[in-house]
Amino acid sequence: MTTAALDRDPPAVAGGSPAKTTPYRQERRYGEEELAELREALEQGTLFYAQGQKVKALEKAFAESVGAAHAIACSSGTAAIHSALIAAGVSPGDEVIVTPITDMGSIAPILYQGAIPVFADLDPHTYNIAPTSVAARITPRTRAILAVHLAGNACDLRALKKIADRHGLLLIEDCAQAHGARYEGRAVGTWGQIGCYSYNEFKHISCGDGGVVVTEDAALAKKLRLATDKCYDRSPDALVRQPVFLANNYRMTELQGAVALAQLRKLPSIVQRRRDWCGALNERLRDVPGISLPQVTSGCDPSWWFYLMRVKPQTLRADADRLAEALRAEGLPVSAHYIGNCLYEYPIFTQHSAFERGEHPYAAYPYARGKCPEAEAILETGVMLAVKESYSDADLEETIYAIRRVARWFAGQ
Ligand SMILES: Cc1ncc(COP(=O)(O)O)c(C=O)c1O
Repeated sequence: MTTAALDRDPPAVAGGSPAKTTPYRQERRYGEEELAELREALEQGTLFYAQGQKVKALEKAFAESVGAAHAIACSSGTAAIHSALIAAGVSPGDEVIVTPITDMGSIAPILYQGAIPVFADLDPHTYNIAPTSVAARITPRTRAILAVHLAGNACDLRALKKIADRHGLLLIEDCAQAHGARYEGRAVGTWGQIGCYSYNEFKHISCGDGGVVVTEDAALAKKLRLATDKCYDRSPDALVRQPVFLANNYRMTELQGAVALAQLRKLPSIVQRRRDWCGALNERLRDVPGISLPQVTSGCDPSWWFYLMRVKPQTLRADADRLAEALRAEGLPVSAHYIGNCLYEYPIFTQHSAFERGEHPYAAYPYARGKCPEAEAILETGVMLAVKESYSDADLEETIYAIRRVARWFAGQ
């Protein structure tokens, strides 16, 4: 059907034909490259990272890919963040400033360290922590800022680094959703003291589950390695079992390392395709009434993990639920409200129920709706479009057409 014909067509929720005429293009994410690496891993006769070559090769390639001196692989993004907090010396009673829109994997490690997550409010357009709000949350107990680069878009790293340096705080980057994103030409994850990545099934690249931490600092790198491996020093000249601090088994196996290595080679193409596809959305949807588009942080080359729009209910004359429903009727993979609630609204915070008994310093900290109004408004008005690098040009045209047609219809234009 021509665009002109579709223009006269009412949206699918009003009885028109859906804009999406064919399914979104899919592709297999694992193939011969991963199988070849897996075969080599198995043929080594060991799957233990300290004896095999795959995790070592991954660490070398990952460090090179982001331009960091050191990379240490581990078992998940959550493990990466926990290891980073351990290496950074985050201890009971410390406060860590973080966004309220993220995965529990960013926050659980703070609680495990006996520390207190302090939620800062967000920029309404980039959806990342607002430096002014971060600065306002600093107290004598603040030890670190955990900068989560949501949906592949960098935080305002220059401003956050300035705040961290001025107050003697550690800046730790959660890049779980931002593989391949850059800020002022440098990879995210290399601006703070430690950068943390996830290789879980749903990220840009995956080995089922896995993680990587990167740092420039040799002393931190040594601590990070210990933090991923029960504080056992595996170097040949070390006394093996002399743990000096508390650390879990967060090791990556050679099987994960093999798949992760093959996936890393695919990352540049994955990021480029996402950048082109979502960049075109941002360009061509600019004048759509009633919808505010995600704003790329100034200085960032984003890697677009998903595409989060916001409704302007007064102009659109519809809320996020109605827009999402209408776009789903067009065949788009959308949902309203992203994670639903800010993390501090979860029972684990409002009821301080992390542990069954005993004192945890976060129990003295009040968590309730209203803490971060911008973040709450982002979730209230947010409509998320799932993005895959496999999407085609035809998918792009139909997606743009669907959003334009539905928005114009709601807005009465
Ligand atoms: C921003 C963010 N941080 C941390 C994590 C935790 O990563 P993992 O699931 O690998 O533990 C995720 C995963 O969804 C995430 O999106």
